[in-house]
Amino acid sequence: MKLKTKNLLTLSEISKKEFSQLIDYSIKLKKELKKGGNKPILKNKTLTMVFQKPSTRTRVSFEIGIFQLGGNAINLSSNDMQLSRGESIEDTAKTLSRYTDCIMARVYDHKMLEKIAEYSDVPVINGLSDSFHPCQILADFMTIKENKQKLKGLKIAWIGDGNNVCNSMIYGCALAEAKMSIATPKGFEPDTNVVKEAKKSTEIEITTDPKIAIKNADVVVTDTFTSIHNRDPKRIKKFLPKYQVNSDLMNLAKKNAIFLHCLPAKRGSEVTSDVIDGPQSVVWDEAENRLHTQKALMVFLINA
Ligand code: CP
Ligand code: NVA
Repeated sequence: MKLKTKNLLTLSEISKKEFSQLIDYSIKLKKELKKGGNKPILKNKTLTMVFQKPSTRTRVSFEIGIFQLGGNAINLSSNDMQLSRGESIEDTAKTLSRYTDCIMARVYDHKMLEKIAEYSDVPVINGLSDSFHPCQILADFMTIKENKQKLKGLKIAWIGDGNNVCNSMIYGCALAEAKMSIATPKGFEPDTNVVKEAKKSTEIEITTDPKIAIKNADVVVTDTFTSIHNRDPKRIKKFLPKYQVNSDLMNLAKKNAIFLHCLPAKRGSEVTSDVIDGPQSVVWDEAENRLHTQKALMVFLINA
């Protein structure tokens, strides 16, 4: 159980087979945990987490995840580190990798993550950058597999901002060979290079019409219109009311479609309460699955 890549900065670094193995192993770890507990396969291993931005799910799922596998995590806010006083990323990465078995970092600029990975001797995991959120997408596809029992050939609709989570979802669809239809306002499309790359493996449709994107979808996904790195409230006007996932829009998807949102959500903005708190929503399983996929990922990288 290991990945060819040393780090997981984007899902483009892993193969279709590795992606599927990670998801299946996450499902196994979840069952094992519910039956009484996981084996201490990461005994005495340590994870160092560096946060430039706030987090609830990523921090807690990584910390509890490694604990449940017999290891430990420490949490560092970049403001409390010498990084904030000008110590270089190179020196920080070299130092941390002398203490710890794995580094997980949540950063603004994706290039900072690439630099940490370049200078670290131990695996580096992207816990969210302004460009990608691969850990979220592992949990999303685990949740989809639990609900649909397959991934290949499904239609996934992304409605709203073509942001970091959307970019990773596109790579996820390529790995799963699921079709993706993305509806964003003009100027809010996902990364064109990511779309180009993913099109080699699957169908990716980009439209400005959410009704086209959601038609016959098996899975409907959205995210906030204002990300941590993109907080200008004026953006919201570009999305509302057209790109809100409400019951009228949701009714255009397949009857048995599921609704995903990485959270945190803003009810009444990108999604209405009747959808996110309604029967088609699987957002709490999705949030829980961060724990199981984080564990699988750490086992695959640290035990490699
Ligand atoms: N979905 C997600 O990454 O949540 P946090 O920002 O709370 O970690
Ligand atoms: N797109 C959001 C995801 C948060 C988990 C952000 O970057 O803030």
